[in-house]
Order: sequence, then structure tokens, then C-alpha cells
Amino acid sequence: MRYSGYVKMKFLAFVALCVTTSAHDISQLKVPLYADPRRAAELSCHFKMDEQKLHSVKWYRDTNEIFRYNPTQQPSIRLFNISDVMVQGGECQPDYCVVRVMPPPISTRAAYTCEVSTEGPRFQIARKTKHMTVVAMPQADPVIIGAPKVLKPGEQVFLNCTSDFSLPPSDINWYIDEELQKPEPWQKTEVTGNQPGGLRRSWRVMRVRVPTTASGALRVRCESILLVEPPVVRDANTIITIHSRTQLSKYVSNISGTNVVNTGLLIATIVLWTLIKISRLTSL
Ligand SMILES: *[C@@H]1O[C@H](CO)[C@@H](O)[C@H](O)[C@H]1NC(C)=O
Ligand SMILES: *[C@@H]1O[C@H](CO)[C@@H](O)[C@H](O)[C@H]1NC(C)=O
Repeated sequence: MRYSGYVKMKFLAFVALCVTTSAHDISQLKVPLYADPRRAAELSCHFKMDEQKLHSVKWYRDTNEIFRYNPTQQPSIRLFNISDVMVQGGECQPDYCVVRVMPPPISTRAAYTCEVSTEGPRFQIARKTKHMTVVAMPQADPVIIGAPKVLKPGEQVFLNCTSDFSLPPSDINWYIDEELQKPEPWQKTEVTGNQPGGLRRSWRVMRVRVPTTASGALRVRCESILLVEPPVVRDANTIITIHSRTQLSKYVSNISGTNVVNTGLLIATIVLWTLIKISRLTSL
């Protein structure tokens, strides 16, 4: 029993050695981390055969075969169209194969596998996999629509922030004086219609209510976030001045009612003071 266990172990070690020293190998697999849905992505698989004869090179998207190269067959290259990925073409050299795929216009992550096998009698297979995510980054900052320059205390206004086209659509966050504004239940992030490649804009409305005691200015910021790793954040800013009464007197002193009252009071004081003086003089 013991002895046969030992032999088995020896045999397994020998097999492991054979596998690890297997001469043919995939030396480099190039799959872009992100693919733009508007352009074909190029994937390449470099291999070294080390004296062995190449039987075939296959590309898989997840478990579906999309490309096969068989040097001894006519035609040597075959493309397979699976439902949501269009294989545009490919070519092979003695040490690499390139395949061009048009990513589906939806935000997906898929595994692309290259498989290189040798001719008999060994029929060995080398395989490598990398993932590609379909993403279109926004090219511009979001835009805030409907922001007035000035608001009075007690007034309210609706602002609309719209992001640039992206895939997947961006999330929208609003800030007032750098404080994240929790959306009211009806203020969901909405998306606009499709562009080629499935790109969409997002927009979200925010209601700004100016407290009756407010003064100064509101710093409004809108952020569009594309949730990829790491997230892509872009933003837009606007400043709304609060046109309150106290500010009115400060900046528009000539026509300010408060100052008219003040001037009136001053005149009345002077008149009163003069009258008192006169009455003192006359009483003497
Ligand atoms: C794959 O599908 C596209 C679009 O339907 C077509 O233009 C192309 O010729 C197809 N390729 C193959 C190899 O069938
Ligand atoms: C917000 O702006 C977007 C893009 O300009 C527009 O499609 C959408 O209808 C606007 N929403 C509101 C409520 O005005």
C-alpha cells in the first residue's frame, strides 16, 4: 500500500514536470482592458512553438468560439459570429494571431481566451484568458441648465444637470456648498436616447429653495460619475448670489430705503438739536 502510494506520487510529480516544462507556450496575450463600442478592438495572441508543429489557434469569447486558425485547412481562417459580438477579421503569422472584434453596444465584461494546440502525437494545449470591458468615457464636463445669477430669499428654482454621452450612462450628484444633496423621490437620474454604440446622456433635476434668512451666495456643483475602476468624475460649477435686503443697502446705497430713513433721522436729529439750542438761547 505504502509503496504504491509512493509510486503514485512519483508519477504525479513526473506528470507535473512534463506539464510545466511543456515547450510550447503563449508568450503574450494582448486584450485591451476597455473597449470603445464605436470602434473595433484588436486582440493578439503571441506564442512560441519550440520545435513543435502548430495544429490550431482558437479565440473564444467567454465559452463561444469566435475565431479558428488551422494552417493545414482551406481556408485557414474561419470566423464565427456569435449573437452579440461581430468578428470583423483576423490574420496569423507563424508566431501570433490577431483578431478584430466589434464590441456589443452594451456595457459588458467578457473573457477572451486564446488557445494554441500542437499536432500529434502530443496534442498539447496552451491557453490564456484576459477580460475586456465595453466602456465609452465622457468627452466633456456636464452642463447645468436653468441657474439664475441672482435669487431672493424664499425663492425656488429647478436646475437641470446633463452629463456627456457615455456607456454605461453616468450617475449624477448635486452639491450645494460642497454638501451632497439627497435627491427628492421624484428626482431620479434619467437617461436620454441612444447614440451609435449605445452611448447615453444622463440628467437629474434639483430643486433649490433659498431660505428666507439666507444671504451671500450658493456654490452649486454637479458631478457626473462613470462607475468604472477607477471611477471617471467630471463636474460643472455655478454661483447663485442671494439678493437679500441687507445686501441691497450695502451695494445700492443711493436708492436704498434704509438709507433714506437714516438720512431722514440724521436731518431730524440736527433739526431737533438746533431747535433745542435756539430754545436755550431764547430762554436766556
Ligand atoms: C458577421 O456578421 C456581420 C454582420 O451581421 C457580417 O457583416 C459579417 O460578414 C459576418 N462575418 C462572418 C464571418 O460571418
Ligand atoms: C434636462 O436636460 C436634458 C438635456 O438637455 C433634457 O433632455 C431633459 O428633458 C431636461 N429635463 C427637464 C426636466 O427639463
